[in-house]
Amino acid sequence: MLPWFDNDQFPLYLAPMARFTDIVFRDFCKRQGADVMVTEFVQADALNRDDPKLWETVDFTEEQRPMGVQIFGSNPTTMAQAAQLLHDRLRPDFVDINFGCPADRVVCMDAGSSMLRNPARLGEVVRAVVKAVPETPVTAKIRTGWDDDSIVAKEVGHIVESEGARALAIHGRTKVQGYSGDANWPVIAEVAAELTIPVIGNGNITSAADVIRIRETTRCAGLMIGRAALGYPWIFRDIKHALQHGTVPPPPSIQQRWDTIIDYTRQIMARPFREQRHSDLRWMRPKLIALTKGIHGSRRIRGELTQVVQIEDLERVAQHHIEQFGEETVAGS
Ligand SMILES: Cc1cc2nc3c(=O)[nH]c(=O)nc-3n(C[C@H](O)[C@H](O)[C@H](O)COP(=O)(O)O)c2cc1C
Repeated sequence: MLPWFDNDQFPLYLAPMARFTDIVFRDFCKRQGADVMVTEFVQADALNRDDPKLWETVDFTEEQRPMGVQIFGSNPTTMAQAAQLLHDRLRPDFVDINFGCPADRVVCMDAGSSMLRNPARLGEVVRAVVKAVPETPVTAKIRTGWDDDSIVAKEVGHIVESEGARALAIHGRTKVQGYSGDANWPVIAEVAAELTIPVIGNGNITSAADVIRIRETTRCAGLMIGRAALGYPWIFRDIKHALQHGTVPPPPSIQQRWDTIIDYTRQIMARPFREQRHSDLRWMRPKLIALTKGIHGSRRIRGELTQVVQIEDLERVAQHHIEQFGEETVAGS
């Protein structure tokens, strides 16, 4: 058993989200109570070619453990090679295989969610990776299926388990659904009840109440939170508090939220990210917009954030907003 599932700990995972769950964001989520984290996905072939951008993406700190690094690809040999490289260089707590990404550029190379249409190949990939890194646990993340007519989570779950993976995260949507519509929790619950390995449920969890309800009604061993954490990383704190004490603490004030956003921005700018070559904030705008989602007046702020270039511009947006709404609080996104 992976130690973070011992004694019914019910770990909360921060979902991997490409371009958003960077090393600084993960630090903040960890401090708020995220138990397990996974890097954004990286292409196995590109890791093997030693692309420095990717090594930056999979970087993590000791405090962030248990940490998984997520890889995607469709070739068992190159996937195994990438896993070995990761083990040798970073010693992650687990290597996670992405079988869920719906993006065209990933599906085109028969990787991500495309593998759900080829369970035999998917099994070969898991087997090869497990064999390549005997000291590092291997896990997988899937969707329920390609579309409503091909829900394969159960079949694929059994394959993943029998090939030696140690946990399975299920995003309860199909590839065709993308990121909209309801997550299919009955299917997740069914797979969680059947498999021996821990199943981590994922899809549209937005509150502590969701977590408590899912914990009570399914055999998921843990849950994974995605977009709700982007706009409100305090969700981990809220859930932990609710699980322990039955109540949700008051949300941070708008002032506190801006302090966090500006601190986050400064930390990102201080890192030697490759995008930093322009030394301005333009490339960070999507991250900043995500972080302000749900704040009072976020629509107007969004417009202003699409103009920020320097940290001073961001501080001005914050100041203006705090003057208007500083004392207000709002939970969730
Ligand atoms: C912007 C974005 C990037 C994502 N990148 C990844 C990724 O790199 N690897 C992965 O397994 N899932 C990725 N996902 C999917 C999430 O991990 C998660 O499964 C999905 O958002 C559903 O959870 P939610 O409803 O809580 O957001 C991404 C999702 C979003 C919105």
